[in-house]
Amino acid sequence: MTTTSVTERQAPPPEVVAEGFNEERAQTYAAATRMAPDARRNEALQVGYALDRLVAAPLQRVVELGTGQGFGTARILERLAPDGVVHGVDASPFMLGHAKEDKRLKRHAGALDQLQLQADSADLAFSIAAFHHIPNKWITLEEVRRVLKPGAAFLIVDVAHDTPAQRTFDYIVRPYCTSGHDADFLDKAWASVLARRAGFTLEAVRVEDTDWHFASEPQMLEYVRDLFCLHLPLPEIRVLLDRWLAPYQAEGGRWVLPWSLGFYTLRKP
Ligand SMILES: C[S@@+](CC[C@H](N)C(=O)[O-])C[C@H]1O[C@@H](n2cnc3c(N)ncnc32)[C@H](O)[C@@H]1O
Repeated sequence: MTTTSVTERQAPPPEVVAEGFNEERAQTYAAATRMAPDARRNEALQVGYALDRLVAAPLQRVVELGTGQGFGTARILERLAPDGVVHGVDASPFMLGHAKEDKRLKRHAGALDQLQLQADSADLAFSIAAFHHIPNKWITLEEVRRVLKPGAAFLIVDVAHDTPAQRTFDYIVRPYCTSGHDADFLDKAWASVLARRAGFTLEAVRVEDTDWHFASEPQMLEYVRDLFCLHLPLPEIRVLLDRWLAPYQAEGGRWVLPWSLGFYTLRKP
């Protein structure tokens, strides 16, 4: 019989920490983005509006949780001072490896609950499409509060509980993505409990329509297959999308996949 020492068990490999964002998932995620670079344009627009409501002056120091290949980072960089810095933290070095080079982006492959930043040093914390992955949300929020300056905000943008987007994750991605997707999504009540426990004020909650757009139906199906790393034939993906998201063809022939995201603003007192 083999035995495992306590020390060995305490050190999970990074791909376990990143909850399945291994090399294959990072490759297919990047392929989806290359295939339809404007699919998430409405997300980018809504993130821009939310940041403009929060931020007046150019930002100096931002921490981003779950940076991945930098989809949201681009919106932060637009609002960053020329000598500012974004600390992009992600558990998956494979996902970070696809982020576009920018001298103001410092990539950190590591845990979100041990940020390599000084206390009271960041103007803003930001996260998009990643917070649901975090298993220890309260501890991570406490760590984010530690590094934010007093009065600074944490903008979490993520799939909201009890929306078609959440059901898509639970009923399509979770069973058919090889790396699994056992996630816990925020709603106002859950965000409020977590914020209070971690010493934040929950300042605002809104759910915005952020439909995804595609040039054709096959492009939409291939995008969904690759973004979520689904091991399913395209006709089966179509059936599942009809059930949970009801895509439709808009005027001009484009295909629309109804999507939405929750926007949660937490403020450090
Ligand atoms: C769906 S991707 C989103 C990436 C990017 N923010 C975007 O909007 O395209 C989720 C990201 O969260 C990261 N992630 C998942 N679990 C994590 C964890 N426990 N700690 C840190 N990052 C994690 C993944 O590696 C991945 O890059």
